Formats: sequence, structure tokens, C-alpha cells
Amino acid sequence: MAAKNFKYVILGGGVSAGYAAREFAKQGLKPGELAVISKEAVAPYERPALSKAYLFPESPARLPGFHVCVGSGGERLLPEWYKEKGIELILSTEIVKVDLAGKTLVSGTGESFKYQTLVIATGSTVIRLTDFGVKGAEAKNIFYLREIDDADKLNEAIKSKKNGKAVIVGGGYIGLELGAALRINNLDVKMVYPEPWCMPRLFTSDIAAFYEGYYANKGIKIIKGTVAVGFTANSDGEVKEVHLKDGTVLEADIVVVGVGGRPLTTLFKGQVEEEKGGIKTDAFFKTSVPDVYAVGDVATFPLKLYNEIRRVEHVDHARKSAEQAVKAIKASEEGKTIEEYDYLPFFYSRSFDLSWQFYGDNVGETVLFGDNNPTSQKAKFGTYWIKDGKVVGAFLEGGSPEENQSIAKVAKVQPPVASLDQLAKEGLSFASKI
Ligand code: FDA
Ligand code: NAD
Repeated sequence: MAAKNFKYVILGGGVSAGYAAREFAKQGLKPGELAVISKEAVAPYERPALSKAYLFPESPARLPGFHVCVGSGGERLLPEWYKEKGIELILSTEIVKVDLAGKTLVSGTGESFKYQTLVIATGSTVIRLTDFGVKGAEAKNIFYLREIDDADKLNEAIKSKKNGKAVIVGGGYIGLELGAALRINNLDVKMVYPEPWCMPRLFTSDIAAFYEGYYANKGIKIIKGTVAVGFTANSDGEVKEVHLKDGTVLEADIVVVGVGGRPLTTLFKGQVEEEKGGIKTDAFFKTSVPDVYAVGDVATFPLKLYNEIRRVEHVDHARKSAEQAVKAIKASEEGKTIEEYDYLPFFYSRSFDLSWQFYGDNVGETVLFGDNNPTSQKAKFGTYWIKDGKVVGAFLEGGSPEENQSIAKVAKVQPPVASLDQLAKEGLSFASKI
């Protein structure tokens, strides 16, 4: 089979792929120059919807409603949009072999694709309990959530196990968002995680105490400090019990596992420089291989603000890194340069009627402010992180758009702080003054 030739190929069809395609179109693209190759069967969409509105029992979000770029307030890129722009959307096509030196990609069905410039946007995959040999972890109705197919299977199980029992393994993003989603669907939910409090890679114990209290009030039972070590199934192979390391046995009709992600870099092993588990890039998302860029979850890039190189597994960076890479590609073709990527980390989550945002870096001392009582009618609280006498990070639950903007500004400006007690007293008004 002859190889298909493109000037640009985006490998991956997720969030960064969609935003990269839009940026290519903005910058000027001739028909037939760009291909997006994705193993998913649908055009790029806003992945965060999968753990939120996609699982709602009433009026759930469905495609085409959340194709990119609606998540950041832009135009929705429907499959027709790619056609209009002359972009080839090559779906249900998994690339299984990559030759970066030969500028060739090969699919699972043996199709070859050649490119002049490649944008790697393969994102992450889930870490599975079978990866660390947990017994019985291949039973039916044990779910992971990464792609729309996973969410469809979970939705079917939610329907068929009405009012059943669910166990969530993991206390990170997936754990907290899915715990809420299953509870909203009226399942009896238990959550299990090894740490002393949820989301320890971002939350302080005070922040976590609010969410754990709120979840408990919603009827979710949280079991901390232990892990799932085995599952038993019924004669149909469906999960029935979760065995914990501390000896507890939990009944389960549905199990959702969220024990972390792993960037999809295996296709490129030995062909490109890696660092911190990702593909190393410069401030324009250019990798160590000429004409190859990497964006989104897979990129380990210079975070200028902290003079460090990091990987970020969140949607805001997926969008912005994709735009930066395409701008850099287009500028370099004209012998021009663009500004270095200067990213302010931004993470957020939503569950039940809660909504938080975080900006900056969660290092140094912390100061809690506001009302973090989980029984309050409308709790609003936050936390500042202070390093070397300056505020470097800020978290806010229940903020208005203006208040969220003010904590973003604080994290960017990094104002000095004379007294932590004073900061605690001033709370959100400290940020509003900046
Ligand atoms: P992304 O995973 O979006 O896309 C990768 C694409 O590459 C997929 O389409 C995949 O199929 C394809 N691919 C991989 N290997 C391939 C191959 N060999 N051949 C062909 N195609 C291949 N973040 C946040 O800030 N707020 C939030 O609320 C959420 N919520 C959220 C919910 C859920 C369920 C998940 C899984 C993740 C989030 N995130 C999030 C994280 C955020 O979605 C994530 O950081 C971005 O989607 C990353 O974008 P990428 O384009 O890098 O990968
Ligand atoms: P995570 O890293 O947020 O959380 C992993 C959690 O797994 C840990 O906090 C821990 O509680 C738990 N864990 C680890 N080993 C365990 C074990 N053996 N048994 C039980 N629990 C164990 O990862 P995730 O929640 O799986 O999320 C996957 C990816 O999706 C990440 O990249 C995340 O950023 C992304 N995501 C982001 C959002 C968001 O930003 N709102 C939402 C959903 C998913």
C-alpha cells in the first residue's frame, strides 16, 4: 500500500489535537496539508466532560455537544469543519509503529503515513490494577475512564445496576469526580484510597477535610489508608467483592478505578529525548528530533515561571501548548520567532454543586481562609501557598469568575506577604487588591 503524504500530521485526536488543528486553520492551511490521526472513532472533544456531564442521569452531555473548542468558549469543531478546511480526519486508526528518522507512521492495519512535520499529541493512558498484579482485576464491571468508549460502557453498567453498590478505587481526580457522578446516579458509593486524605498531590489536609466531609454528607463512605488487593466475581465473571489490604471486604456491582495516568510515549522510545516520564521539549514544544513537536500530557517542557521543566496533565495546558507549537511551526517556516511559552499552571474540578480552581505552584507554607465547613449552605474557602515570603499558589472553592481571576493574578504576580496571620484574616480580599 502506498504511503499517504502530508505536510503536517497530528498524531492523536484528543484535546491538544483539536486545538492544534484550529490553530493550523487560523494560521493558514491549504487543503490536504494536514491530517489528524486518532485511534478514537470520533473527532476531538473536550475530554473533561467524560467524568462530569457525560455521566449525568438527566440531560447528559453527548456529542456533538462537546467537540473542541467549546471548553474554552470557542467554536465547536464538528467533523464537517475538518472537511471544510481540507483537514483529513483519520479516525479509528491506531498508529503502532513510528520511524521518526524516516518520517513515517504505520497503523495497526498496515497503512503508512509520511509527514514533513509531526505533532505528537498521544496524551495519557490509565494505569491498570492488572499492571501490578491485583488478583481478579480483569473481572467484568471494573471500569477505567479515559476515552468516550470507556464512558459509554460505564453508562451502560450504571443503567443495568440501578441502585446497586459501587466502589471507587483511588482518591485523585477520577476518584473524586466519579464518586460524585455515581452517587448522583443513586448508587451506594464507597471510596478507597491509600493516602491519609484525598488528592494529596494538590490538597492540604484542610482542603481535603472539606471535600471528605461534603462527600460523607452525600452518603459516600470513605475508607482511607488501605488499597484494593483482590476482587471476586460471580459465575458470569461480574465483579461482586472488593478485598482490601486491611482485611475488609466490600460488596460491589460496579468498580471504578482511578489510580493515575501514564503518558503514551512508548512508540517513540529510543528515538527522542525523554525526561520526567515525558518527551522533552523546548519552550516551543520542539523535541530533540528535527520537525517533531510534542504537546499536551506527553510534553516535558520548560515552565519559565519556576525555572523548572515539568509535565502537566491538565486540559488548559493541552490547549495552550498545542497553540504554541503550531504558532512556532508556522513562524519557523517564515524564518520568524515567537515568544517563549510562559505558562501559569491552572487546574480545576467540579463535582456535585462544587467547583474549585487552582493557579500556580503548591509549594511552601499554606494559609487557609474562608468558610470550609462542609455543612455550610454555600461554603467558600481557599488556600494560599507561600514560598520565600511570596504567594506562589492559590486555591478557591466556590469562587465567582472575577474571584477566580483574582487568584490567578495573585499566583502570576507573586506578591510579597509580611504576615501569614494577616493573610489569613484578609483572605480573598488580599487577592482582590492585586
Ligand atoms: P488526550 O488524552 O486528550 O488525547 C490523546 C489522543 O491520542 C486520544 O484521542 C488517543 O486515542 C490518541 N492516541 C493515543 N495513542 C495513539 C496512537 N498510537 N494512535 C492513534 N491515536 C492515539 N483536566 C482538567 O484540567 N480539568 C478536568 O476537569 C479534567 N477532566 C478529565 C476527565 C477525564 C475523564 C480525563 C481522562 C482527563 C481529564 N482531564 C482534565 C485531563 C485532560 O483531559 C488531559 O490533560 C488532556 O485531555 C490532555 O490532552 P492530550 O491531547 O495531551 O491527550
Ligand atoms: P491521580 O494521579 O489524580 O490520582 C491517583 C490516585 O490513585 C492517588 O491519589 C491515590 O489515591 C490512588 N492510588 C494510587 N495507587 C493506588 C492503589 N494501589 N490502590 C488504590 N488507590 C491508589 O490520577 P487519576 O485520578 O487516575 O486521573 C488520571 C488522569 O486524568 C490524570 O492525568 C489526571 O490529571 C486526569 N484527570 C484530571 C481531572 C481534572 O483535572 N479535573 C479529572 C479527571 C482526570
